[in-house]
Amino acid sequence: MKKITKAVFPVAGMGSRFLPATKASPKEMMPVVEKPLIQYAVEEAVAAGITDMVFITGRNKRAIEDHFDKAYELEAELAADGKQELLRIVQEVIPKHVNCIYIRQPEALGLGHAVLCAQPVVNGEPFAVILADDLIDGDMPIIKQMVGVYKRHHCSVLGVQEVPREQTRQYGIVSSTNLEPGVERVNGIVEKPMPAAAPSTLAVVGRYILTPRIFHYLARVKPGAGGEIQLTDGIAALMQEEKLLAYRFNGTRYDCGCKLGYLQAQVAFGLKHPELRDEFAAYLATVK
Ligand code: UTP
Repeated sequence: MKKITKAVFPVAGMGSRFLPATKASPKEMMPVVEKPLIQYAVEEAVAAGITDMVFITGRNKRAIEDHFDKAYELEAELAADGKQELLRIVQEVIPKHVNCIYIRQPEALGLGHAVLCAQPVVNGEPFAVILADDLIDGDMPIIKQMVGVYKRHHCSVLGVQEVPREQTRQYGIVSSTNLEPGVERVNGIVEKPMPAAAPSTLAVVGRYILTPRIFHYLARVKPGAGGEIQLTDGIAALMQEEKLLAYRFNGTRYDCGCKLGYLQAQVAFGLKHPELRDEFAAYLATVK
């Protein structure tokens, strides 16, 4: 069984729900307290033992490359000013043993197409996919939990969560049978069904472990819901050939791709922040 060493971060989307903030800078660089969303995602992968970070980027995404690159001038200035703590924070954005690889998705043709763009570097190995705008807070990092499921079952694993029925049209929805606590065998998956047509309320969120066979199917998927090449359609085809599991992760998810979820994440992470929590809690208590 091959070890999972690569994580794919699709970051080429338009981020239209956050315009004008995302007009010139990437959604994934929006901070929750002081850390950008993409840094939380990379830290989650590092905690799962992943060493190669593959970013699928598009226009206006240079800030992500700069964020994970060495910042010579900034570091020199912080060192000259004796700001050792800030220098340490800047230098520790990414551990030294981790590689960053950038692949350009020329057009935002959909999440499935973005993942397919990773094929030249990932081919032949199982890999993780992490959507940075799904920020998930758990005692054990979610991708680490999912790598554990992969190690036991040797197949693709989807991160899933129950959602209110009226929200099914925002997600890929699975039908499944329970295999063991927290783990489901997937029998069907459909992208963005209307509530009445949804086979269940178990939604796929932004965490995946995929076998490399997915590329074979993604290369053949035709544009689906919203005219995009959907990852869900590739997974539905993969499921006909290989075992597919869904994992009910332990953690709280904040949908930072929408404004309400992003604000909820700010509050939750602000209330956990070692320097801010007491003052912030006191402030919130005064808010009507
Ligand atoms: P979303 O559906 O959240 O789209 O994509 P979006 O463009 O980021 O945001 P909105 O809906 O316009 O506000 C889910 C994930 O897939 C990536 C996005 O960057 C996001 O992480 N994605 C989507 C791509 O990398 N390429 C695409 O063609 C589409």
